[in-house]
Amino acid sequence: MKILLLGSGGREHAIARALMQDTAVAELLIAPGNPALAQLGELVDCDVLDGAAVARVAVERGVDLVVVGPEAPLVAGVADAVRAAGIPVFGPSGAAAQLEGSKAFAKRIMAEAGVPTAMAHVCTDLPQVEDALDSFGAPYVVKDDGLAAGKGVVVTSDRSEAIVHAERCLAKDGGTVVIEEYLDGPELSLFCVCDGTRVVPLQPAQDFKRAYDGDAGPNTGGMGAYSPLPWLPEGTVDDVVARVAQPVVDQMQRRGTPFVGLLYCGLALTSRGMRVVEFNVRFGDPETQVVLPRLKTPLGQLMMAAARGELPKAPLDWDAQAAVCVVLAASGYPGRVRTGDLISGIADAEVMPGAHVIQAGTRMEGAPGEEHLATAGGRILTVVGQGKDLAHARKKAYAALRKIHVAGSHYRNDIAARAAGA
Ligand code: AMP
Ligand code: GLY
Repeated sequence: MKILLLGSGGREHAIARALMQDTAVAELLIAPGNPALAQLGELVDCDVLDGAAVARVAVERGVDLVVVGPEAPLVAGVADAVRAAGIPVFGPSGAAAQLEGSKAFAKRIMAEAGVPTAMAHVCTDLPQVEDALDSFGAPYVVKDDGLAAGKGVVVTSDRSEAIVHAERCLAKDGGTVVIEEYLDGPELSLFCVCDGTRVVPLQPAQDFKRAYDGDAGPNTGGMGAYSPLPWLPEGTVDDVVARVAQPVVDQMQRRGTPFVGLLYCGLALTSRGMRVVEFNVRFGDPETQVVLPRLKTPLGQLMMAAARGELPKAPLDWDAQAAVCVVLAASGYPGRVRTGDLISGIADAEVMPGAHVIQAGTRMEGAPGEEHLATAGGRILTVVGQGKDLAHARKKAYAALRKIHVAGSHYRNDIAARAAGA
């Protein structure tokens, strides 16, 4: 089959890598892609936020399946346009993508479906915000209602910092802010493949959201991840499917906006039980980089089955090896980042056994014949290590990462350290 993949980040590089290992995938087109994706398929020129343009390319090129990587095209309704052109899509409709596009909408669906989540107040002015903050008390959790690339949430014990963030969210067009009860306990990410009615879970992963070691610093899109989770109580995945993913998929179906694609359940295992922290309507980044290398079931066929509403009930096949990934971030990330720095050492990292490099914020720069790889975004790349357990996988990821050099870049040293017993 011929697949058109939308996106340009590490998540899409990891998806493309897995798709190319599926013997049923004959050809991959990618828009807009990045230098690493250009090695795995043909880059096509197309505005991925323009549904009509994406549908046109898919029809003209005889594509069998469109896979939408990021949330922005989904929320913009790109999957609807492609589906209307008669082409299967792995990715929800604009209406179903509101599960990520609006935190207030997600709260409403969870209430309707009886899914456990943090108590929340949806606020549209400052007095409401102050009341909500004071009723929950510290630590305060303040969330931008809309899409914010992983940077819309502030968790702080400083009331004035909470208010400053809330004001910033309220100042936006249609500004709405969600104030939540603080959830304690470890977090996990569970990806569920959905076909509108059925739910098939992938293996869980854990993401490291804060910028610096010891979970210090601001929230980011994610600084590293690992899978599997040896500390996870037995039965947790089944429990999440039964109490979270399936009820949400059932509720979306009942509302006439079925969910097809990937439902990312972000969960906290609190002292009072499991709670949903957030939903995303696409694969997580960087969790995808550790989950997909472990998946043995062919990904292209799995996505096609979901897109057609024909997901098989059988559980998926998994590699017993563990995977750990570490993100290399640009100078300044998650604040204002510098771009255009030279990236060296990727080839040296890739020859390390059990390691590979996933590119995200990279581009080719320089005069023809003298091009080199340079930084082009906050999260530059992810180094993935695989090994017989987390300790081995972790060692491989860090050994390979140390071969790569980018001026001013930074990474966390403690990814998967506790879980690996390091
Ligand atoms: P979100 O974008 O909603 O996933 O939030 C990003 C991150 O903020 C989460 O992964 C958590 O680490 C943290 N967070 C979000 N909501 C809460 C909450 N209610 N209590 C504690 N931490 C939270
Ligand atoms: N790693 C978190 C996310 O993709 O939103």
